[in-house]
Amino acid sequence: MTARIPLSAPDITSAEIAAVTAVLRTPHLSLGPELAAFESKLAAYHRVEDAVAVSSGTAGLHLALLALGIGEGDEVILPSFTFVAVVNSVLQVRATPVLVEIDPVTLNLDPAAVEHAISPRTRAILAVHTFGIPAQMDVLKDLANRHHLALIEDASEAIGARFDGRIAGSFGDLAVLGFYPNKQITTGEGGAILARDPAHAARLRRLRNQGRDSNIDWLDHAEPGYNYRLSELACALGRVQLRRIDEILPLRRQAAGRYDALLADVPGLERPPLLLPRRELSWFVYVVRLPEGAGRERVQAALLRQGIATGRYFAPIHLQPAWRASSAADLGDFSLTESIAWRTLALPFFNRITPGQQREVADALREAISCAA
Ligand SMILES: Cc1ncc(COP(=O)(O)O)c(C=O)c1O
Repeated sequence: MTARIPLSAPDITSAEIAAVTAVLRTPHLSLGPELAAFESKLAAYHRVEDAVAVSSGTAGLHLALLALGIGEGDEVILPSFTFVAVVNSVLQVRATPVLVEIDPVTLNLDPAAVEHAISPRTRAILAVHTFGIPAQMDVLKDLANRHHLALIEDASEAIGARFDGRIAGSFGDLAVLGFYPNKQITTGEGGAILARDPAHAARLRRLRNQGRDSNIDWLDHAEPGYNYRLSELACALGRVQLRRIDEILPLRRQAAGRYDALLADVPGLERPPLLLPRRELSWFVYVVRLPEGAGRERVQAALLRQGIATGRYFAPIHLQPAWRASSAADLGDFSLTESIAWRTLALPFFNRITPGQQREVADALREAISCAA
């Protein structure tokens, strides 16, 4: 059933439509001026040396790991409470994902659990800024430095978030962004890797484009690579979306504030924090934790009957059949992840969600929860 109030919705204005249409009037549909412009704006926004646009966030994670030389026999530490692409990319380079527990407030890597998981084979920490909340970057960076590990940020859900005033994506050796249509800014499909080292950026560009160096013939390949290019149409869309980001992020912050007020009186419901010390949040999704015993599937079904979509963000990786089959690694203790994950519910959340729609969602949720009580 298509929901009347969707979980997410892209925010495309006439400016995006004009920019994409203009590309169609040129001979450049790939590897043209829009790519260069989008990349330089992304790098400037994040205050990093360079940005390399790719065809998805998943492709970005894959190339980031390759560019750092991570492969077979290496361990990469990441949270279990995340999107499956994060672990898949580690498996794709034949490295071993080592899943660890999260912090109950930020839902990000628990630095103590990361430290505990470091072994002689650890090569990298993959810090995901889940739901747009920055991870504890000072401690994670310090851990990476002390143990000579690479630090990769997955800022796919957190464009524009800040930790201690510094923008997410500017801490790691490399950082990945994702622009799927449910994200704060979208290119349809797409992603990018932020790089501080020009050598990394050059390697990423080569890997993205079938192993070609920029100065060699189209049929010469310096190394094996991929087609992870992002089209000029997508880059034009992303460039305009990024230009609007200072309008987009406040809209999402205001929508989160409205939910917070509307849901304050629902007994047993835990709302996400609006403010956290040392952090500026970039609202990706609005995820509540249902009261114990509310029955998430029943609540979801009740809302859907009223045309309201919801999501189970996230199903822990270590409980996925695909993950269980693919690794022999010790699964450790995930009691916190499990106790949180089975109660989470993402509510409809997008730039243009109206106060009326949010009231409808809040009323339906209150009603569904009270039926279980
Ligand atoms: C944290 C995180 N990493 C990576 C991805 C993958 O991005 P994409 O769907 O663009 O491949 C996503 C979601 O889409 C994500 O939420």
